[in-house]
Amino acid sequence: MSAQRIEGKQISDAIRVEIGEETAKLAQRGIVPGLAVVLVGEDPASKVYVGSKEKACQQLGFYSEVHRLPASTTQEELLAVIDKLNNQSTIHGILVQLPLPKHIEEKPVIDAISVHKDVDGFHPISVGNLTIGDDSLLPCTPSGVIELIKRTGIEIAGRHAVVIGRSNIVGKPVAMLLLREHATVTICHSRTADMEAIAKTADILVVAIGKPKAIGRSFVKPGAVIIDVGINRLPDGKLAGDVDYDDVLDTAGYVTPVPGGVGPMTITMLMLNTLKAAKQANGIGE
Ligand code: GUN
Repeated sequence: MSAQRIEGKQISDAIRVEIGEETAKLAQRGIVPGLAVVLVGEDPASKVYVGSKEKACQQLGFYSEVHRLPASTTQEELLAVIDKLNNQSTIHGILVQLPLPKHIEEKPVIDAISVHKDVDGFHPISVGNLTIGDDSLLPCTPSGVIELIKRTGIEIAGRHAVVIGRSNIVGKPVAMLLLREHATVTICHSRTADMEAIAKTADILVVAIGKPKAIGRSFVKPGAVIIDVGINRLPDGKLAGDVDYDDVLDTAGYVTPVPGGVGPMTITMLMLNTLKAAKQANGIGE
């Protein structure tokens, strides 16, 4: 038996249609969701990501601003840009592309973004709200993972979810979201003893470690749902996930491909967050 491929691109496209419909309704009331993306320096991957975010805004009829700042920008100059965007009524979401150049500290920058405009969901107040189960803007890749699972019709409640990786951007928030969906959650990381045995008990296995093809069939319970968050560039230029897709195919029940799995969801969830922030700024509930 071969696993069912979870088609991230198709699911992402379907959500974008819904966002487009909501945006059209808001436009009738004179509301245009606005996203500001701030890029400091010349990181090639970051430039590509920022370009994709700008394009998604254009396609959906959002207002967008991209602030491309030189690598020599000081911490104070960056904080001044954020302060201005915090107070700009046409902007509902602010995203500072990471990583930042080495001379700029990440934490004060993230902390400076208004929690109402924190479409990355990285602000400590957003993280706190997520943890206690209050409404907040959710980090994009983790909420994309949950949407992929739900829209494939997979039940989360009562299942054992194992998350491999404990980063602030993916591992920890995805574990909190799975818990919120009533899964029993285990987090594994580089110091975990016998990770293979734990992973093998997972009904849902989420992998976010940044190591190409590190997880093969020996980590997989027959029929398990595998969500691969990794995107790694191989020496031959091809992309590979953290999961060895071909190796797990005969064991897993469902698996996300790379590319075309979690990747397409991230920007879509960013757009959804921007839409939500725009509605909230205008006193419109969910
Ligand atoms: N760089 C890589 N992923 C991300 C992300 O999700 N948000 C931001 N701001 N920067 C990133």
